[in-house]
Amino acid sequence: MQTIHTLAELRAQAAAWRRAGERAAFVPTMGNLHQGHLCLVKRARELAPRTIASIFVNPLQFGPNEDYTGYPRTLDEDRRQLQAAGLDLLFAPDLDDVYPRPLEEMTQVTVPGLTAVLCGASRPAHFLGVTTVVAKLFNMVQPDIAVFGEKDWQQLVVIRRMTADLNIPIEIIGTPTVREADGLAMSSRNGYLSTEQRAVAPTLHATLQTMAARWRHGEQNYPALEKEAKAQLTAVGFQPDYFEIRHAETLLRPRPEDTAADLRIFAAAWLGRARLIDNLAIAPLTS
Ligand code: PAF
Repeated sequence: MQTIHTLAELRAQAAAWRRAGERAAFVPTMGNLHQGHLCLVKRARELAPRTIASIFVNPLQFGPNEDYTGYPRTLDEDRRQLQAAGLDLLFAPDLDDVYPRPLEEMTQVTVPGLTAVLCGASRPAHFLGVTTVVAKLFNMVQPDIAVFGEKDWQQLVVIRRMTADLNIPIEIIGTPTVREADGLAMSSRNGYLSTEQRAVAPTLHATLQTMAARWRHGEQNYPALEKEAKAQLTAVGFQPDYFEIRHAETLLRPRPEDTAADLRIFAAAWLGRARLIDNLAIAPLTS
């Protein structure tokens, strides 16, 4: 596995693969890798003969009081895991290479609508940071395919929309959420949980499962289900941010007649200093 830090070297390698007719699949990450990321790499390897991952902790997607400075940076261990996973190329650019000018002077990419709800409502500049850096990484890496996890479902649909709207010739692939044995979705932020909080954390997924099952069994008063779910999470120590049933692709709220549509439940809740997110299909059931 090669590790490359500069755009010039990245471009040279990508061009050589393109000349040889080899397609490339790309997995963008912020590092501190876990099994969920390694599953993205595995999927990328199934999709294309060449695989590229990036590690870049993107300041533009963190709010002023969020964990940018403290976000775990574990490049040596990440490299070891990516090498073992069979990745071809790790791109780990420096901050100045991605943002050579002050952040507020850089061109930004915005996807309206989809980013105004759920995580976008409680983290106002988050998706602007995500779409801007992903658009830049797409232009730097120029892959044929890019692979994202469904745990960040909203991010996945936002990136699909951005790619379509900007006519970016990259196929976006989503992969199912990877979970611990007790159901907790794998996340770099799980490392912030104390032992006691870690024991409580799977309740988020369990509550999504219970509410999805109740919906499927005919309890389709979604505001009532959402209210009850939030109360249950609060009772075990979470501070719920949202627990909402929405259309999977448009993220709009369902109308009463939409009960057979492709709906998902989305949840975000604080547990100590970890903000956990998760989501589940209601129908059809996929992950
Ligand atoms: O999902 C992430 O880790 C990040 O949001 C991403 C896509 C790498 C952009 O910084």
